[in-house]
Amino acid sequence: MNLQELKPEIKSIIEQSNLSVDQRLLKICETLEANISYYNWVGFYFKNGDKNELKLGPYVGEPTDHTIIPFGKGICGQVAISNKNFVVPDVAAQDNYIACSITVKAEIVIPIFVNDENIGQIDIDSNTPDPFTEADERFLEFVCKKVASILN
Ligand code: SME
Repeated sequence: MNLQELKPEIKSIIEQSNLSVDQRLLKICETLEANISYYNWVGFYFKNGDKNELKLGPYVGEPTDHTIIPFGKGICGQVAISNKNFVVPDVAAQDNYIACSITVKAEIVIPIFVNDENIGQIDIDSNTPDPFTEADERFLEFVCKKVASILN
């Protein structure tokens, strides 16, 4: 399935108000991982209360030790501060990178804004080198907007 075809699927998951927010976020992770061949680990991180750190939310893929990431650390921690998309074609070329699995070649992190505040992000790891294009950024911005609509 291509990215455009997945949009209605994401919308319908978001609208399942009988499910908790976390259940819907997990379904989004599952849908993305199952349908996009180069999305191999898909998860959400959210600001942990008042602390300057991220806490792992729903995800699919290999379990990670990095359930808490301080702001500024790794790709995720940098996006928490920059408020900007971060596309990493080759993780080996990054100094400030937290490795979760040796199979990962590339990563994309897109921030989630609620009332203009950066409250979290979607993080995707790929086992394929340099797989992400602007189409992924636009699609994942769409996903993050939808997710923001069900967060307080
Ligand atoms: N690689 C990320 C850490 C999170 S894992 O990819 C699940 C980073 O550098 O922030």
